[in-house]
Amino acid sequence: MIDSANLLIAGCGELGARIGSILSAGGMRVWGLRRRSERLHGSIEPIAADLSQPDTLADLPARFDLVVYTAAAERFDDPAYRRAYVDGMRHLLDALERQQQRPEKLLFTSSSSVYAQSDGVWVNEESPTLPTHFAGLRLLEAEDLLVRRFAGAIVLRLAGIYGPTRTRLIRQLESGEARCIERPPVYTNRIHLDDAARLAVHLLGMTGSGGVYLGVDHEPAEQCRVLRWLAKQLGVVPPQVVDEAAAGERGLRSNKRCSNRKVLATGFRFQFPTYREGYGAIIREMRGEHPS
Ligand SMILES: NC(=O)c1ccc[n+]([C@@H]2O[C@H](COP(=O)([O-])OP(=O)(O)OC[C@H]3O[C@@H](n4cnc5c(N)ncnc54)[C@H](OP(=O)(O)O)[C@@H]3O)[C@@H](O)[C@H]2O)c1
Repeated sequence: MIDSANLLIAGCGELGARIGSILSAGGMRVWGLRRRSERLHGSIEPIAADLSQPDTLADLPARFDLVVYTAAAERFDDPAYRRAYVDGMRHLLDALERQQQRPEKLLFTSSSSVYAQSDGVWVNEESPTLPTHFAGLRLLEAEDLLVRRFAGAIVLRLAGIYGPTRTRLIRQLESGEARCIERPPVYTNRIHLDDAARLAVHLLGMTGSGGVYLGVDHEPAEQCRVLRWLAKQLGVVPPQVVDEAAAGERGLRSNKRCSNRKVLATGFRFQFPTYREGYGAIIREMRGEHPS
């Protein structure tokens, strides 16, 4: 990867900014594109634009060598997903083409929600993607669009992101609202925000990295097991165990174990290999202890 390259981060929120700051520290010039561009600071140069409004993309301020697409839907509904992923991706590709820009690499942070497997099986990059829910459908549509139009695109399917600012499970436990399904076991898959950013940077820097990757840590873990471990660390009551019907989830939820074998084979090493290291560090930080 060229240190002096120009990088565009389209939809530059928390993950995008983390990717941008790693690469700008390495000497790259980084632009972050989002609607509320005033929220960007530090070494990331702001571009105020709306991916769902092609006119706002008409005059991109530089020639980009690398592009990362990290926009996320602002609501959990189909129109918002379509706007953020499908329309946004198409508009950005159109704008780059119209401006005769041909970046060397384009990486899209998609999601493991493209897999609809619901019986706890292992999935990898070759597994069938047959989503029936709008979230997986729209993400897959954006992936297809990108792969058709950009040879060598990198699709990074991330599992649930957690980190110091993403502590939903901790808050649920602390408020006594945490629930989990014990039988059948429900597997959850995750990646720490820092590892998600480091992995994107790693793939951008790799020669011939085009293709699909699953961005997930080493340990798909049962919902109840994770929550009980967390409750113990926090010193709060364990989660309430409910059955599938009570959780209102029967037949709705995907339940799979995502493999990180392909990512490990590229030489990537996780800073937080499982939820224990990741949440352990978050809890120590919450308590004002030094990270170890
Ligand atoms: N969070 C997860 O657990 C998870 C799991 C799997 C995959 N991912 C993927 O990881 C990526 C980052 O997710 P995140 O949770 O870190 O997101 P995030 O912090 O919410 O950042 C997303 C950014 O997209 C921007 N954006 C949304 N719509 C836009 C539009 N029309 N035009 C321009 N910018 C727009 C938003 O900024 P403005 O509102 O200022 O425009 C926001 O800062 C996403 O691609 C997501 O699909 C996330």
